[in-house]
Amino acid sequence: MTGTDERLALLGRAVTQDEVQDDAWVISTLRRHEPATMHTQHPVVWDRASGSRVFNREGRSWLDWTSGILTANAGHARPEVVEAITEQARQGLLHAYMFPTRVRARTVRALAELSGFPQSVLYTTGAEAVEGALKISSRYATARRRGREGGGGPNIVVTFEGAFHGRTLGAQLAGGLPAQRDWAPELDDVFVRVPYPARGGAWTAEVIETAVRSAGARPEDVICVMGEIYQGSTLRQIDPAAARELREWCTRHDALLVFDEIQSGFGRTGALFAYEHVGVRPDLLLVAKGLSGSLPVSAVLVGDERFTRDVRPGELTSTHSGNPVSLAAAEANLALYADGRLVAEAARRGRQLADGLADWVAGLPARRRIIGTMGLVAGVVCTTEDGSPDPQTSQRLAAECIERGLLVCVPSTLGGAMIKIMPPITTSEAELAEALALFGAAADAVQLG
Ligand SMILES: Cc1ncc(COP(=O)(O)O)c(C=O)c1O
Repeated sequence: MTGTDERLALLGRAVTQDEVQDDAWVISTLRRHEPATMHTQHPVVWDRASGSRVFNREGRSWLDWTSGILTANAGHARPEVVEAITEQARQGLLHAYMFPTRVRARTVRALAELSGFPQSVLYTTGAEAVEGALKISSRYATARRRGREGGGGPNIVVTFEGAFHGRTLGAQLAGGLPAQRDWAPELDDVFVRVPYPARGGAWTAEVIETAVRSAGARPEDVICVMGEIYQGSTLRQIDPAAARELREWCTRHDALLVFDEIQSGFGRTGALFAYEHVGVRPDLLLVAKGLSGSLPVSAVLVGDERFTRDVRPGELTSTHSGNPVSLAAAEANLALYADGRLVAEAARRGRQLADGLADWVAGLPARRRIIGTMGLVAGVVCTTEDGSPDPQTSQRLAAECIERGLLVCVPSTLGGAMIKIMPPITTSEAELAEALALFGAAADAVQLG
């Protein structure tokens, strides 16, 4: 047999039932065939998930404080979403590219009605939506500068230190986390990063002018300012007055204001979109994750048709954008938000979470802190006496939570000191109380005091 024949024979060999049942087989196979960078995943093999819970093959369940990294806002495997996916598959249309479909028309209409943004550009991932927004901003800027004196100019994108916008090249360069982009070539003539206008700080739009000028450009070269209402990496929240100043600055310089709500959208913060908390409407709104609550679909929501008028035909497409099955999931998921009850519930549960965490931290020393509580997102930070990150304690606490039946994650940001808490917004009062009790017991076990 040739090497290829041997490999084909191996592929044809049925995986035995024992192998499939055994979680250890799953983990060792993944370790063999995926790079080491993936091996940081906690060894809980997900078999199915429903509402606020994740189950393994043996039927053990965990309450999920990750929402599948902020995706299952309306709960895992919502029956309405599962039904829509199944129905679309049964109809026999799994893919379409550049041809109109009914489900696509219904979804973009639903998005416009729900968000008030008249147009949507559909994509698959959040990072793709980020890069789509950069392209739209560039085309818009180039067109408005045409004929203006000195109209050439570089295309400057202003973003914020500490920002996370995804892991593809453009999205990574737009981010403000230097350690995450040291693999990529520097394109500093394009991206200018300025301090984040965090709540309670003394931020003014002057910092944009100063940073742009020190990059050798002019304010009128800025094509867009892109930021988050709360930063997923640090949970710092935007200052409302600074957000208004940012809006005013962008309008004055004809730069597009882009809010990345890939993480914060669809009820997460107790509002449909987090920008509602600061009363500042962006020109482009980026959404993903909670948009379908399940299958990969993202979108750039466009606040005015002028912004996309100069994009060239075909420039904003990709093979799987507008996938009919993903859109069936999105359409069914969007319908869940129509009566506002889900968002109101998120605000209520958010208060329960904030109160529960405040009670818990009250008896602990100052080096254990709660940060960034906004609706159903919060962080618990463990530091050492001198205030530096204490990732060992965070990891021990996370492992203890998982051991007790509560899924949590520890992002690499903030020195790995933060346990990020983000339950599905459909988590019931009783489930949240149970999760808080599990968290408290885990904290006792690792003796945080
Ligand atoms: C604020 C923000 N922007 C962009 C992204 C990238 O989204 P994706 O992982 O779907 O590319 C994320 C993902 O966590 C995010 O939180």
